Parts: sequence; C-alpha cells; structure tokens
Amino acid sequence: MKKYKTVIVGTGGIAESHVNAVRALPDRFELVAVADVDAEKVEAYGKKYDIPRSYTDYEEMLAAEKPDLVQIAVPPLLHVKFSIMAMEAGAWVYCEKPLCASLAELDKIEEAEKRTGKFCASVFQMRFAPSSTHVKKLIESGRLGKPMIGIAHTLWYRDLEYYGVSWRGTWKSDFGGPTMILGIHTMDHVLNLMGEWEEVRAITATLDRPIEVEDVSMVHVRFKNGALVSMINSALSPRQETYIRLDFQKATVELKHLYVYQNENWSFTVTDEEKDSGLLEELTSLPEDAPSSHVSQIKAMVEEMDRNERPSTSGSGVRDTVEFVSAIYKSGFTGEAVKKGTIGKDDPFYRDLSGKSSKA
Ligand SMILES: NC(=O)c1ccc[n+]([C@@H]2O[C@H](COP(=O)([O-])OP(=O)(O)OC[C@H]3O[C@@H](n4cnc5c(N)ncnc54)[C@H](O)[C@@H]3O)[C@@H](O)[C@H]2O)c1
Repeated sequence: MKKYKTVIVGTGGIAESHVNAVRALPDRFELVAVADVDAEKVEAYGKKYDIPRSYTDYEEMLAAEKPDLVQIAVPPLLHVKFSIMAMEAGAWVYCEKPLCASLAELDKIEEAEKRTGKFCASVFQMRFAPSSTHVKKLIESGRLGKPMIGIAHTLWYRDLEYYGVSWRGTWKSDFGGPTMILGIHTMDHVLNLMGEWEEVRAITATLDRPIEVEDVSMVHVRFKNGALVSMINSALSPRQETYIRLDFQKATVELKHLYVYQNENWSFTVTDEEKDSGLLEELTSLPEDAPSSHVSQIKAMVEEMDRNERPSTSGSGVRDTVEFVSAIYKSGFTGEAVKKGTIGKDDPFYRDLSGKSSKA
C-alpha cells in the first residue's frame, strides 16, 4: 500500500483535526510539513505536533515538498486559489469548507481538475460517521418507507469576539453567514441522506450581529422524492444544538448533537404497525462506533486515492451543496422559490451570492 506524503496549510483552530486525521492512519500518510504566514505560530505548531518542516510561504512548501496530498485549513478566501495551486503542483486536495464562494468558482476548480488529472475534495465530515452510512443505506433501501417531513436545525451561537476576526462575517472573505459557514455541515448531511433536492424557499436576515452577511436563515426545501424539510441556520442561539429529524412512513430518525456526533446521538422510533417487524432492531444495529470527524472522512479518501477515483465530496458530490446554498441566498434576496438547475452562467447568483446584483 502506498504511503502518501501530506502537508497542511493554515495552523489555526481547525488544523488540529487535520493533524489527527492523517496521524490516525500512520501506515498511509506521512505528515512532512506545515505552512502558515504567521512565522511564530507555524514554528510553534511544527514543534507541538512534531512535524519535520515548517514554512511561511505556501508556494515554497509545495515546490520543496512535492506532496501527494495538500490539506487546506486557511480562511475561505484562499480556498480556491490554494486548491488550484496544489493540483498544479501535482497533489490531491482536502480543503476545508466552504470550498468556494459560488458555482462559478466550483467550475474553476473542476477546470483545474481536468487540466491536472488531480482531484479536490471538500471537508464534509458529517457525512462520514459509520452510523450515518448505516442510516443512509436503510433510507435508500426503502425499508423506512417514503421520506415525508424533516427538520434540520443548526442553532449555534457566535459572539462579537468570533465576528471580530477580520475575515469573518464578510461576503468577500467568509462567503456568507451561518448558512455558508455553520449550517452548511448539517444541510450537506441532510442532502446526503435525503437525495436530490428540487426547490428552495428561504428568508435570510441580519438580526443582531454587526456583520454584512446574514446571522440567520430559514429555509423550506422540497426534495425530488416529495419530502418537505424545514431548515434553520443560526449564529444567534444561546442554547446551542444541531438537530436533524426525518419522518418516514414507518419510522422517525433523529440526530441530536453539537459539532460531532456518534452512535449515541441517534434515536429511532417506529410506528405501531412496525413494532414486531424487526425494523427497530435493523435501525439500532449501528456499526462500530466512530465520530463524525475528519478521521472518518480521510479513511474514505485514502481508498479513493488508492483507486485513483474521484472523491465523493468533489465534482457532482459537492456541486449539489454549493448549488443548494446558492439557491438559499438567491431565494433570500429575491423572495422567489428557486428550482434546482436554474442558476445558469448568466444568472447573477452564479458568481455572487451577496445579493448586490439583485439590489442594483
Ligand atoms: N470542518 C469544520 O468543522 C470546521 C470547523 C472550523 C473551521 N472550519 C473552516 O476551516 C477554515 C479555517 O478556519 P480556522 O477557524 O482554523 O481559522 P483560523 O483563523 O483559526 O486559522 C487560519 C490560519 O490560516 C493562516 N493563514 C492565513 N493566510 C494564510 C496564507 N496566505 N498562507 C498560509 N497561512 C495563512 C492564518 O495565519 C491562521 O493561522 C475556514 O474555512 C473555516 O470555515 C471548518
């Protein structure tokens, strides 16, 4: 089995999850270097995690290390640029969310993938806990009956200090508010479980934080299979919770957690008619426990690297979510319902989700 040489760029809050992910597979990855513009920080980080080399210049690190994989953990504004640079240097990419600011930027990434033969995967760790894969299989088998109603709440709290960091809370650097930055995890998870979405109606508002992006959005979604799901993405909720509830004809599936879930966070209820059918036992027979972490995602990705196969959170596997978020902002700014497939290259929301174009 090949051992892949990997590097990390960005040594802020989320970088530790990237170190842990590759260190969980010591036979498959060798973390050879780390880069950050902050010289003191990168030096200290390299020492703390015993990483052989540190750089203050990302380009220099790419040229010197020639990595197989680049893990990108810098602020959103740099994601597309750094992803393309990594692929041009011959590496695959595992980039933090939000991967890009728009469908136009996603097209740029895909163009670079075609040109270089490398792939760029978005971090979406919520999809990868074994418990979620188990539930998804049961949903897709039809065992739970028709999907009907759902709730997806990302009720989180982000204070003034959080938004005091210069790149946060702006269209240019953060690409949006809790829709793009916080709830994107829960919404991506629900899209992964429920299949193709068809139409979105949304309200977005800035109720309390002094930021130019929204601090809350409320979304109604119709899925292709007919199910209706209500979503909230909030940065304003003092009692924080992430809550997913999906009602099928035969069962209710619930997941309550905050940032990371595992087996104990799921609960299942079946109808009286299904009490003796074995459905509850099937639902509760969860696989070996593992959290919804970067570790679970990177385990799946290393196998895709071995097979030289497009990672499941790249290409169409990420386009669905980028288009979904674009539709939420378009609906929020225009007041219109937005159908899947309608944000074409001549639509202002193809390039810019800030609503500037719709106000002009
Ligand atoms: N997947 C998750 O659950 C999760 C959780 C938190 C944050 N994130 C995402 O991770 C990304 C980083 O977030 P964070 O909270 O770690 O941010 P942070 O501000 O704590 O860290 C960012 C780091 O990038 C460095 N940096 C900035 N410009 C650079 C450059 N040109 N070259 C090299 N380094 C540079 C900064 O010095 C800083 O150390 C964001 O996109 C965020 O949305 C994801």
